[in-house]
Amino acid sequence: MSAPRELPTRSAWVRRLSVLLAIVLPASGWFLVTGSGVPAATATQLSGSTVPAAAVPTHDPQSAADLLALGRELFFESRLSGDGSRSCASCHAPDKGFSDAQPLSRGYNHSGHFRNTPSLLALSSKSRLMWDGRYPAERLHDVVSDMLLSPVTMNGERQIIIERVRQLPALIDAWQRAFGERNPLHFDGLVAALAAWSSSHGNGETAVDRARHGERQALSARARAGMALFEGRAGCVHCHSGAAFSDGKLHRLGVPENLDILRDPERTVSLLRHYAVHGAVHPMAARGDDGAAVWTGQATDRGRFATPTLRGVAQTAPYMHNGIFATLEEVVDFYDRGGGPGSELRPLELSTDERAALVAFLEALTVPMPAQEAPGVDNYATDAGAGR
Ligand code: HEC
Ligand code: HEC
Repeated sequence: MSAPRELPTRSAWVRRLSVLLAIVLPASGWFLVTGSGVPAATATQLSGSTVPAAAVPTHDPQSAADLLALGRELFFESRLSGDGSRSCASCHAPDKGFSDAQPLSRGYNHSGHFRNTPSLLALSSKSRLMWDGRYPAERLHDVVSDMLLSPVTMNGERQIIIERVRQLPALIDAWQRAFGERNPLHFDGLVAALAAWSSSHGNGETAVDRARHGERQALSARARAGMALFEGRAGCVHCHSGAAFSDGKLHRLGVPENLDILRDPERTVSLLRHYAVHGAVHPMAARGDDGAAVWTGQATDRGRFATPTLRGVAQTAPYMHNGIFATLEEVVDFYDRGGGPGSELRPLELSTDERAALVAFLEALTVPMPAQEAPGVDNYATDAGAGR
């Protein structure tokens, strides 16, 4: 599998650092400061010139708790988006399992999205990200950066984001607690905080975990029957395996197209842009979501999507990459039929009871989810008189 063409691999730490220094230092006058700390030789090696240690931005937060606190503030902050209209929480709403309960994501103003908003529950257990699996989990930071900057999600711009954060007292405080008072704001640090907070949900014990640890009463008889089917005759565990209930691989189930993508010109435009950005050969010929084929460039990957985790699945309807199924019952019926055209599944011929048992098992994967209050809205510091 090759890397998506749009997305450069994460630049080396050293290269980023020297670019940052080149931009930040002359503008801020810090090059005049003579500091101590990092030995001059290290600074010289990193930047190619002699730079005082005091201005070297660090990418290491002071503590994990402070990084999470910053991430939480940022997650709810709509001023990270281009026109200030939406935050991460607008689509990944904490009270909806960090999703939006819509079949298809709304997209940035006037645009439309062509995929369902995935839940962020158990994000840290996923091995591939995005419905089509185009990022490995190690590139979570690139996914978060993409969410901030993409014209179909938040349409933000790095420097505007940094300047807005600088003007928001609660955010700059949280930044300084996380990265230190002398550390200049940097985009990668904001992304790291968002990634950390996004990964911190839905990792708690489910009834299924408790049953696996020997607590037999944790599951109803029906859910236990569902578990036996899941791991046995229904073959779910073939793909939904391991602690994350995912093999991290791409599969073709023949999920029906969501025709709303083609009915809404703005959603079609976003889909075609996605094809064009990833260098699909005949993007205008596309008549549906080709899944992984778009980024692997392999026709055989058409209609393949990454196996999602099932942790918290009852909390995140509707289902599949395009939200085509409203309920878990519909998903199980689909599997019972052996999936759709071109599927690698086979019909299961389950009884009504067996289908209900599978649903009960999926419901027992519900994760504890403490309520998340949005932080209070903060006014720009400039309201208080700065710049007058
Ligand atoms: C306009 C709605 C929208 C907003 C705003 C948004 N997202 Fe997303 N997010 C999506 C959609 C849609 C996808 C799936 C895209 C795909 O599969 O191609 C996604 C995917 C993700 C993923 C990958 C999850 C997985 O299971 O693969 C992460 C992580 C994520 N978003 C985090 C964030 C963060 C952090 C923010 C704020 C900086 C954010 N998102 C803002 C809609 C949104
Ligand atoms: C061949 C691999 C494979 C098998 C077998 C399989 N799944 Fe899946 N499952 C997937 C993939 C891939 C997706 C995502 C498909 C998409 O988005 O188009 C998925 C999606 C799901 C979803 C929706 C998750 C969400 O967040 O939207 C549920 C629920 C689910 N599977 C349950 C099951 C059950 C129950 C079984 C057994 C009856 C099963 N799966 C068998 C690969 C598999």
